[in-house]
Amino acid sequence: VRQDDFFEINSLAYPVFIGSKLWIRLREFVQPYLKPGGIFIFADQNTLKFCLPLLVENIPELGDHLSYAVMPGEESKDISGLEEVWNWLMKSGATRESLLVNLGGGVVSDLGGFAAATFHRGMPYINIPTSLIGQVDAAIGGKTGINVAGVKNQAGIFYDPLAVFIFPGFLATLPENHFMSGFAEIIKSALLAGKNSLHMLKANLNPGDESIFGHILETVKFKCDIVAKDPHDRSVRKILNFGHTIGHAFESLFNQNDMPGMLHGEAVAAGMICEALISSEINGLSKWEQNEIASLITKYFEIKPLEKKYFDNLMELLAHDKKRNSDRFKFTLLESPGKPCIDCSVGSESIIRALRSYNQIIEE
Ligand SMILES: NC(=O)c1ccc[n+]([C@@H]2O[C@H](COP(=O)([O-])OP(=O)(O)OC[C@H]3O[C@@H](n4cnc5c(N)ncnc54)[C@H](O)[C@@H]3O)[C@@H](O)[C@H]2O)c1
Repeated sequence: VRQDDFFEINSLAYPVFIGSKLWIRLREFVQPYLKPGGIFIFADQNTLKFCLPLLVENIPELGDHLSYAVMPGEESKDISGLEEVWNWLMKSGATRESLLVNLGGGVVSDLGGFAAATFHRGMPYINIPTSLIGQVDAAIGGKTGINVAGVKNQAGIFYDPLAVFIFPGFLATLPENHFMSGFAEIIKSALLAGKNSLHMLKANLNPGDESIFGHILETVKFKCDIVAKDPHDRSVRKILNFGHTIGHAFESLFNQNDMPGMLHGEAVAAGMICEALISSEINGLSKWEQNEIASLITKYFEIKPLEKKYFDNLMELLAHDKKRNSDRFKFTLLESPGKPCIDCSVGSESIIRALRSYNQIIEE
């Protein structure tokens, strides 16, 4: 699939446009708002610098409209970041008839989306995602929100954009580590979607080259299909948590003081290896498939071992996770690629065994 093709996905309540020829559609979309006080462009300082010029180059009319940028990074996705956006909108005279344009990664779409949902009790917004996580995941599905007291996504609301515009050209300036975070989501989606997508990924792929576009498209279509079936995350949408239960615990643990740090993508990659191991112990995933999954992931990610002395810390972090139910844990597991199961009950002993095997896989 070539990125200069152009696709419109219509499985959700709003259209998702993807490809390098989407500017015509974007122009049509913003046209009714092209008046003073009509359009407000929200970004972070990186996307303001790297992505706004590209946007204005393609739609010069947007150059006349106000923009505002928060500091890049997760720290901005909190109550003071939200207040910043509200203040800016209020002082600049935005109304319920204005359009908020979120130009950035997941932080911008989560925070900007929440600001749009709450400003004057709801103003329209569109997402123009610029990071790979934004393009394949965060910009789609209407989940908006902020972190509270350092805990992720504690306050938020489902509030749909009017449309999503995915222009792969923005990825040219995205730093490699952030690219790989999105790539972990592409692998996850392929594991959930099944054989065909997985087969495509196994072919020798250089994540940075143009062939990534086909994978972005597949991942976007898959996410749209799942969200369409369960917009409020009560049932089937939970399959998208695969790899994330243990992944989030790895991410928190490795980013504590005196630990070596771990990027989100690496954590999700490690989480998928562990959850595939649990799947093969209790959910019928064949040993052969589990091995295939581990080798696919280790081909793209440098996986860090988890020293035994940290197993208890990891279990504590999992216990704090909201998916916990009594003394057992709820996971999304695989029966095989393409056959995920939600709400699987997992005992702590299975998790510990998976962590041991995970370390062995890395040593091999
Ligand atoms: N709402 C959802 O459904 C959903 C889904 C997944 C993730 N998320 C959220 O998304 C966030 C993670 O998303 P993210 O990885 O995009 O984070 P991010 O928005 O912080 O972007 C990552 C970094 O890349 C920079 N960047 C983005 N696009 C760029 C470009 N084109 N060129 C140069 N730099 C660029 C940003 O400035 C930032 O420094 C988390 O807060 C997560 O909770 C939400």
